[in-house]
Amino acid sequence: MKVLIVGNGGREHAIAWKFSQSTRHSGIFCAPGNAGTASFARNLDGLSSDDLEGICSAAKEHDIDLVFIGPEVPLSMGLADELRRRNILCVGPGAEGARLESSKAYSKEFMLRHNIPTAEARIFDEAAELEAYLSKATYPLVIKKSGLAAGKGVLESDSAEESRKFALEHIGEGPVVVEEYLRGYEISLFALSDGKQYRLLVEAADYKKAGENNSGPNTGGMGVVCPVPWFEANLMPRIEEEIVRPTFSGLEADGIDYRGILYFGLMITESGPKVLEYNVRFGDPEAQALVPLIENDFCNLFEAVAGGTLGEHQIRMSELQSLCVVVAAEGYPGIYQKGIPVDLGRVPAGPNYQLFHAGTVEAEGNILTGGGRCFAAVGTGRDFLKARNRSYELAASIQFKGAWYRKDIGNRVFGNREIGPSA
Ligand code: AMP
Ligand code: GLY
Repeated sequence: MKVLIVGNGGREHAIAWKFSQSTRHSGIFCAPGNAGTASFARNLDGLSSDDLEGICSAAKEHDIDLVFIGPEVPLSMGLADELRRRNILCVGPGAEGARLESSKAYSKEFMLRHNIPTAEARIFDEAAELEAYLSKATYPLVIKKSGLAAGKGVLESDSAEESRKFALEHIGEGPVVVEEYLRGYEISLFALSDGKQYRLLVEAADYKKAGENNSGPNTGGMGVVCPVPWFEANLMPRIEEEIVRPTFSGLEADGIDYRGILYFGLMITESGPKVLEYNVRFGDPEAQALVPLIENDFCNLFEAVAGGTLGEHQIRMSELQSLCVVVAAEGYPGIYQKGIPVDLGRVPAGPNYQLFHAGTVEAEGNILTGGGRCFAAVGTGRDFLKARNRSYELAASIQFKGAWYRKDIGNRVFGNREIGPSA
């Protein structure tokens, strides 16, 4: 079976790596992939992940049997619809299903329509109405731009002035959602769906802020623990009953044949679990921590997701703990340089260490950085401390000018006590 993975991030490196472990594959292709995937897959260098026509043609040209779409942008553009029109099996919802992520106004209406617990919200299309509402509101509030924003379209604020400024900046681009500020802790939960059945994977927690102790600006994610030791597992039946099942029956009732991954961004509040957002793909960097724990053969599992036979499969998760530390470029999430040479000569090897690249490229034998978040250092182990020490050992071994990472990923396990990385 030939598999094509669309995307070039750490998430796609992890997915492609797992497919490469399958005994069923007869070729892994990445569009465009990165310097990490180049070591076991064929990178289709010239292709960008939002080049729908180019990807469909490449899939035909290389006789691809299964396409796995990693990022949200090609999903929201309808890449899955295009591939299915050409009878190519693919993992990922069509453009209609992808609206759960690409329009926050649509996803909020979906949750209300199907009685799914979420923050109370109002949706505005008119600047004057929005301004009047914000001037009388009680803070803190959360203001969200409706469209895709790579994690930058959300403001949590207790200032009416700051909220007004942010809201008015975005109302020109489409609706703006204003919602209740929820308190609690967040988890990311992933389900696979073949349009008829779903299967849940183990939960993960993503560290979204750039600074230690969750301070500073938002990022795409700086670290992950998976599973989440502080998650109250006895809530899982309630999450399934109140959130997961109504979501999938809602999709069915709305006539959406959802074949792919659905990401539930949940806030565990005092009054129970609530949906903050849906994403229509694996999280990045959650996938890097989660994928090494999935024991199923990816060719079998995702052929079933794409082909509608997921009911014949059960998920097998390893008993290990996983931790991911993201190594970023100086300046990220603000302005940063790309093309910085990287030395990976001291990277530890072994089954409990996984290094995933994000956007890296190879030029004249050198690996160069290609983005803000450059690497995901994943450590696994039988206990939390081993996983943590391995991921920090791996993160510290990655050498490039200005490289930095958060030192407190998972410290909540130790009651938030600061304990420095072992390396
Ligand atoms: P979203 O893209 O909707 O998930 O928002 C990004 C991040 O903003 C979330 O992961 C939360 O940390 C935060 N956030 C979003 N909505 C809320 C809310 N209603 N209450 C508190 N925090 C929120
Ligand atoms: N790590 C959060 C996301 O992928 O949206």
